[in-house]
Amino acid sequence: MYTFARLTTVYKHKQVKNRQVIITFIASIALLLSCQKEKDKTHLLIGFSQCTNGDQWRHFMLNDMLRELAYYPDLQLIMRDAHDSNELQVRQIDSFINEKIDLLIVSPNESAPITAAVEKAFKSGIPVIVTDRKINSQFYSAYLGADNREIGKQVGNYIAHLSAAPEKVFEIWGLPGSSPARERHDGFVAGIAHSPNITLNGMAFGAWSKEGAASALPDHEKEIRAADIIFAHNDVMALAAWEYCEKLGISRQKKIIGVDGLPGQAAGLQWVSDSILTATMLYPTGGEEAIRLAAGILSSQQVKKENLLQSTVIDRRNVRVMQTQAAKIMNQQASIEKQQKLLLEQQVLYRDQKNVSWFLLIILITATLLGISLWKALFERRKAFLQLEVQKEEIIQQRNQIIDVSQQAEEANNAQLQFFTNISHEFRTPLTLILGAVEGLITGTVNTREAKFDARLIRQNSLRLLRLINQLMDFRKIENGKMKVRASEHNLTQFINDIVKVFEKNAAKRNIDLHFFDRDGEILLWFDENMLDKVIFNLLSNAFSFTPGGGKIQVSVESDAFTRQAIIRIGDNGKGMSKAYSEHAFERFFQAENDRSVGNGLGLALSKELVDLHHGEIMLWSEKNVGTRFEIRIPFGNQHFTTDQIAPEKAAERAGYDEVSAIYTEDTPDTFLISPEKTLENKKNTLLIVDDNAELREFLCRKLSVIYTIKEAADSIEGLKIAFETGPDLIITDINMPGNNGLQFTKIIKSDIRTTHIPVIILTAKTTMEQKIEGIRSGADAYMTKPFHFEFLNEVIKNLLNGRAILRERFSSNFASDKRLAETGDPGRQFAVQFTRFMEDNFANQDLSVEHLGQHFGLSRVQLYRKVKKLFGESVNDYIQHVRLKKGARMLLETDFNVSEIAYQTGYSSPGYFATAFRGRYHCTPGEYREQPQKAPED
Ligand code: FRU
Repeated sequence: MYTFARLTTVYKHKQVKNRQVIITFIASIALLLSCQKEKDKTHLLIGFSQCTNGDQWRHFMLNDMLRELAYYPDLQLIMRDAHDSNELQVRQIDSFINEKIDLLIVSPNESAPITAAVEKAFKSGIPVIVTDRKINSQFYSAYLGADNREIGKQVGNYIAHLSAAPEKVFEIWGLPGSSPARERHDGFVAGIAHSPNITLNGMAFGAWSKEGAASALPDHEKEIRAADIIFAHNDVMALAAWEYCEKLGISRQKKIIGVDGLPGQAAGLQWVSDSILTATMLYPTGGEEAIRLAAGILSSQQVKKENLLQSTVIDRRNVRVMQTQAAKIMNQQASIEKQQKLLLEQQVLYRDQKNVSWFLLIILITATLLGISLWKALFERRKAFLQLEVQKEEIIQQRNQIIDVSQQAEEANNAQLQFFTNISHEFRTPLTLILGAVEGLITGTVNTREAKFDARLIRQNSLRLLRLINQLMDFRKIENGKMKVRASEHNLTQFINDIVKVFEKNAAKRNIDLHFFDRDGEILLWFDENMLDKVIFNLLSNAFSFTPGGGKIQVSVESDAFTRQAIIRIGDNGKGMSKAYSEHAFERFFQAENDRSVGNGLGLALSKELVDLHHGEIMLWSEKNVGTRFEIRIPFGNQHFTTDQIAPEKAAERAGYDEVSAIYTEDTPDTFLISPEKTLENKKNTLLIVDDNAELREFLCRKLSVIYTIKEAADSIEGLKIAFETGPDLIITDINMPGNNGLQFTKIIKSDIRTTHIPVIILTAKTTMEQKIEGIRSGADAYMTKPFHFEFLNEVIKNLLNGRAILRERFSSNFASDKRLAETGDPGRQFAVQFTRFMEDNFANQDLSVEHLGQHFGLSRVQLYRKVKKLFGESVNDYIQHVRLKKGARMLLETDFNVSEIAYQTGYSSPGYFATAFRGRYHCTPGEYREQPQKAPED
């Protein structure tokens, strides 16, 4: 689950990362676009309402504006052409207002009709620059243009200086509603006011255009013919006047003066240069200045409200200079425009490249982020997989641990079960002995001496049970942590000596050389007397149990100053232990298979636990048939004990070891063994008892010796030796024994021709059905469990012996092979069948002898004799005779062979010998036997 969640998180994390990258990408694009927009937004919009863009002057004006605008990239100009229409101009101004332009430049067509629209714009907060023509209001930000009154005045002055003769002037007006027309007229009138020779003889209205003037002039032919001078408010209307005069053929007599002074091929300067016009007044468009003024206003600079442009008279005197200058200026302007164009192209290129760069940069950043995100995701995934691997490994380890633990638990459980099985076995032998003894006492079948033995047996075995129970309880205490050390300081030498003394009597009785060595005298040691005494008693008791009479047991105590330990050694030259056992002797549940040579496997384990509680160590060295030595080492001082492990005050003197010693120093069996050989004589059957428990052997021996001759063996090796040598009538064997166990022993007995016929009773503490089946499978004739009822055992023995007698009888009287017998699996019977078969096949052989048979069956003369005697109740030779005579008798009855022929066919060397032997068995001659037809042939 964890892993899935983790992966999901990683996946989600990855998704989030990807989303972040996408967002970054979109944001970057948006930023880029917004930058562009931002730039667009920084453009300030200038609305330019032009009364007309239909003449050259206006074209110049617009060009001047545009050229100047190139220096103000933030400013954007939108020009709307009103085509000389007031209404259209008003609408266009309104739409500029609605579009919320940043500034309005207006050149009104006529002042009055446009004034309200301009005021509205100004009042709505839009700065307004009025240029060239004026409005009838002060609601504007600035005015820019030449001083038209002054221009009119300069024209008047110029005419006045032309000649002193009376001069008639014809005036051609622009739109009378536009301020330049009015102001130029007013200025002109003012200019000629002091020149009485100059008079205005007529006027026409040309509406600022050549066409307008051309159409108006014919109505004034008379005045025009009479006039000396024609003053037109601009150059194009002046040209129309010249053309009209040319048409009338009077152009050479007229002095025509215009306004504007534009450069170029068809404009004022050229017409002056061509003498079409006498003079023209320079009237600057103010395009550049208007843009500069607008930029100033938009950048919140203080600007002048009234901005007047300079003007000057241009006539044939200065026209060349003016033209040259104008050409120069125009060239420069063309160059500037070209550069501006190039610059603009560069700017566009730069902007495009910048955009491409931005785009590439964003792509690069996005790709990098994507790459990082991918790498991170891969890294996270790798990490997650590694974590998974680790978790998998942990799970495998945990599973293995669980398996190990469960195996250990199973092993521990099995060991515990084995332990309790062993313990219960240990209970069975003492209980058997107690019950057996009690039985004898109850039935009163024992004499006084035996009753004493029985009572002693009961006491010893009860004490043994008590010891076992005490040890079990001690173990339980240790297991539950309730075995608390109560250490106090004692003289270890004295303590050990006291225990050794308890065993002295026992040693003397059994002629065991018990010696105590106390080289270092008094040794003060902290220990719990009630624990250490159990250890010492147990080890000494073991030593006594496994040391034969005449053996040696040595106990020593010494102080090891180097290791700061007290050392107790207990050694014997007894039976010793096998290596397999000694390696595991201190293990609690361990009991070497078939080897009970060191007690019940509990005492040593308990001793080790008790020594461990003293922070000491216990070791053993042992060699089979050489001896055993135990060594206990306990540290000096009491530092290793906790405060509650130290007895508050010195314990009271011990009352003595009577109770304990009784448990540990029970007389070993050899102190009261009765030799069965001495007491039992002339018994018909011999029993062999094989058991390593001397007490049980002794008990059985004592009980059974009344009826049978008893032979005994303490292990299977000795048992086999006695069985082969003496051929007992019945064997009783235990299963748990040193060397081969009882089952292996039985198998050997039942498979060896010398002993196959001997009934075997297994007498054991192993009680399960599997163990019983295994016992019977080994060939045993009976399987009895401890504790057993003696009378029952006795009956089983009797039955088996009887069965053997019946079998013997059967084979002695009937030598016909019996397949069913062969199939019974009884080794004794099997031998009988094999033997009779052999006789069947070989009875005619005159050389058939004991030696011959012995060789065939692999038996010595004595063994063959003993076996045949057991099975058939007669000697081998008697049995051969028996078989031959039975065959002879049958042939006498069933064949026509004569007696001599039958004698030879049944293995007799002479008919006479056959006749003698026949008479000995059938109490008649062979001939007489044949003549008694009523006899049925013997089987
Ligand atoms: C151009 C023009 C000029 C003149 C000015 C007066 O449209 O007619 O020729 O000087 O306007 O506003």
